Amino acid sequence: MPTVLALETSCDESAAAVVQNGLVLSSEVASQVQEHALFGGVVPELASRRHVEALPHLVESALTKAQIELSSLDGVAATVAPGLLGALMVGSVTGRCLAQLAGVPFIGIHHLEGHLCSALSGNPAPEPPLMVLLVSGGHTELIALRSFGNYERLAGSRDDAAGEAFDKVARLLGLAYPGGPALEIAARGGDPLRFRFPPGRISLPEGGIHPYDFSFSGLKTAVLREVQRWQSAGKPLPVADLAASFQQVVCKVLVERSVRCTIDQGLPGLVVVGGVSANGELRRQLTGACSAASLNLHLAPLAWCTDNAAMIGLAGCKRLQLGQSSALNLGVAPRWPLAKAHKLYGAAPF
Ligand code: KG4
Ligand code: ZN
Repeated sequence: MPTVLALETSCDESAAAVVQNGLVLSSEVASQVQEHALFGGVVPELASRRHVEALPHLVESALTKAQIELSSLDGVAATVAPGLLGALMVGSVTGRCLAQLAGVPFIGIHHLEGHLCSALSGNPAPEPPLMVLLVSGGHTELIALRSFGNYERLAGSRDDAAGEAFDKVARLLGLAYPGGPALEIAARGGDPLRFRFPPGRISLPEGGIHPYDFSFSGLKTAVLREVQRWQSAGKPLPVADLAASFQQVVCKVLVERSVRCTIDQGLPGLVVVGGVSANGELRRQLTGACSAASLNLHLAPLAWCTDNAAMIGLAGCKRLQLGQSSALNLGVAPRWPLAKAHKLYGAAPF
């Protein structure tokens, strides 16, 4: 029954959690979002400094709330890729030091595997084979999960990630950063059918349309044109209708293409994780479409959609149970494909 202390510092959330055999005993998150909001986006150097300040307190309170001593841990996990280099370094160095202090293995975790694990807990926990739709600020991907740790990327966004599109469109509409939650609130009561924004299709060189890949940059440009039209007419922006129409089309393409991909691959269920999976309209559309297609739907719990350390601890438990741990000289990588997550165990690849 492994007990793992987990750290997450890949972007602008500092987090620590204690997970015991797939059960989350504590999960502490200190968001820096308000501070970065002053700059309209994440400032990497500021993020690293805030992680250094916040992490010791978060670790202490995660251990205290879980009533676990450092000496009773079986492993320490930390996100090592992908993410902001300096930010990742803070969690990784802290994790390796604590693992040495406790005399237990260090488990470097791929951030996206962490997101995936946010929906693989519970009793009974969803079991592969499954299709995974990962929708975050930096990624929009459809991944076939044949067995844990065996990832086959089947499709993704050719340009902006879904979360990035939410953030950019929210900014066009004059909404607060981060854009996703602000846009969802602004869309309430708006007419989702007032503006017909394009669903972003990818043409194939041999003709036809890619069945699953996404593109959100054309959609963002279409919203920009509409905003400019209203501004040059000197009229106030119909923010709620614009937000609702944008949200509606993003959710529709995410749902249609991921359900189609799951059916075509003959997989029995769909797992949806990452920051954008917190979106109520997306959850509503997914629930309807999966039920109509007789697919099992596994949504990340709301508290674990955006970055947290509970999901890193869940991944750490799974890796430890597979007998895997990382070399103490494992560094961090701003980019690293999920398909190579297994390389984080054994000899260090970076
Ligand atoms: O997974 P996450 O916390 O960080 C990354 O690993 O990227 O995702 C953050 C992204 C941001 O783009 C944010 O705007 C989006 O998730 N997001 C949402 C919602 N909550 C967060 N997008 C749409 N609706 C939401 N309710
Ligand atoms: Zn994330």
